[in-house]
Amino acid sequence: MNPRNNVLDLATRRGFLWQSHEIYGGIAGFYDLGPLGTLMGYKIIDLWRKMFIRRHQEFVVEIKTPIITPAIVFKASGHEEHFTDYAVECKSCGRVYRADHLIEEMLKVKAEGLKAHELERLIREYSIKCPACGGELSSVRAFNLLFVTYVGPYSENNKAYLRPEAAQGMFVNFKKVYEYMRRRMPLGIAQIGRVARNEISPRQRLIRLREFTIMEMEFFFDPRDPKVEILYERCSHRKIRVLRAEDKMRGGGPIEVTPVEAYEEKIIMCPWLAYWMCVAQEFIEALGVPYKDTMFEEKAPHELAHYSKQTFDQLVRTERWGWIEVSGHAYRYDYDLSRHTKFSGEDLYALRRLKEPKLVRREQLRIDKKIIIEHFGRSAAEVFRTLHTIPQDKLIKIVKESTGEFVKIKNFEIPKSALKIEVVEEKVDVEKFLPHVAEPSFGLERLIYVALEHAYREDNERVYLALPPYIAPIQVAVFPLVSREPLTSIAHSLYKDLAEEFDVIYDDSGTIGRRYARADEIGVPLAVTIDYKTVEDHTVTIRDRDSKKQVRVPMPKVAEVVRQVIRGAKLLELGFPEV
Ligand code: ATP
Ligand code: GLY
Repeated sequence: MNPRNNVLDLATRRGFLWQSHEIYGGIAGFYDLGPLGTLMGYKIIDLWRKMFIRRHQEFVVEIKTPIITPAIVFKASGHEEHFTDYAVECKSCGRVYRADHLIEEMLKVKAEGLKAHELERLIREYSIKCPACGGELSSVRAFNLLFVTYVGPYSENNKAYLRPEAAQGMFVNFKKVYEYMRRRMPLGIAQIGRVARNEISPRQRLIRLREFTIMEMEFFFDPRDPKVEILYERCSHRKIRVLRAEDKMRGGGPIEVTPVEAYEEKIIMCPWLAYWMCVAQEFIEALGVPYKDTMFEEKAPHELAHYSKQTFDQLVRTERWGWIEVSGHAYRYDYDLSRHTKFSGEDLYALRRLKEPKLVRREQLRIDKKIIIEHFGRSAAEVFRTLHTIPQDKLIKIVKESTGEFVKIKNFEIPKSALKIEVVEEKVDVEKFLPHVAEPSFGLERLIYVALEHAYREDNERVYLALPPYIAPIQVAVFPLVSREPLTSIAHSLYKDLAEEFDVIYDDSGTIGRRYARADEIGVPLAVTIDYKTVEDHTVTIRDRDSKKQVRVPMPKVAEVVRQVIRGAKLLELGFPEV
């Protein structure tokens, strides 16, 4: 077994993560982040925020919306109907399996996206039995992955779902954020938060959870004028490996292209999808995953989610689980905004300025006041007020749909002759359109796993995590060489000082060698040691985790050194003497 497989044992033993509710036996699909996992999670979130949000803050903003979401939102989004996987149950032992995963495991073929009858056929044709007890399997049935709940006392009217993606929070808020951003396009709305999916029998620990943290952006743009110069500025040189659906189905491998080439050669159909895939590649390499262990896999048409015209999964090679998906990149075109426009009755359009004004014909309602006054007498004023509270397009619709001589509007029966629909021509220089959307979506826990596995090193004498310093949970350790005064007081006061700015540990128990080893094992990039020379000249040693080399640094400079190393500088290249 490859040593990298030991990383989960280390992560559990050292407090990165463990199964949830363990003292009650735990349930599959729920994992807690311990103190170190929580810190590492924050740092990965920080890095994601930096690369996806802060560097684009002129057009990307972040929001937070509730996890509990009224059922109508997921009816509109199509999840109520389509967010399903297929399950089979063992007739003998009652174990339940996700049908496509079981087939993939047993037959070593791709089964994602197959329909129920196709899965059924494979199971019967190859006589697939329960892997645990050899029992007969039930027929395949669809299982919706939405967790259901009720808001307040039980009633079907109060039905809600735990969101399976953060995306809908962005779509239903599109109009508000669009106004907040003063109607600028393109516009990214990002969100980081918890989501829940009632996965069928999850068995891959941290990789397949029933509740996890998603980092997601809905990027809205005008398909006629995507304004994507940034793709050409930033992504002309970066390479990505792309496995096209057609190549995948023929058993071929990935091609190597720049995101710009991939867009220009129509491998990626949406320019903003190409741009965010470029950023995603940079992000995943920044987590410590080498280029050769990365690729984007295009979903075949039958594998696509109901809202997507094209999707690429970003995959990372792991020792433990093979290639796993760490992010999805979906071209959701105008699917979600058009569905919410339809279901909510709210107009979720954006405005596009026209190069040349154009003549448009539109319908307009002309109210014949005379007829209304004649018909309603003193109540006419009330009728006018009522008519003014209703938007023109709604009034026109009501008038068109009414048959007979009167139109019922609120409490009034108004003579149809008083409500005339006219066609007028006017010059306009803006028009409405539904923005298209490119969506990058990352699962935090998979990223934590991937970064841990790729950082795991075993050599003859030690185990350590070579985490990039900016995602290491603890950034610096402070040790007195021996646990004696005045070394402990000096070390403690330096520790207090650094704790104002960094995640730092103080350790004075055991030999210095053991303390270095404990810090290495959890990936602390720098260890500062206070020794007797410190008492004389106020310098300390700082040890580099990966090379184990040390430099001597004046104590007042320690914070600056830590800061620089977190920003990517190499300790041994900062000009301090090696010891
Ligand atoms: P999979 O095919 O693995 O079920 P998916 O295609 O359903 O994943 P998306 O819907 O694209 O995944 O979700 C976006 C991201 O959320 C994924 O790339 C992954 O990082 C993460 N993710 C999805 N499902 C889970 C899960 N059950 N546990 C942990 N992370 C998940
Ligand atoms: N928002 C994409 C997904 O989670 O399915």
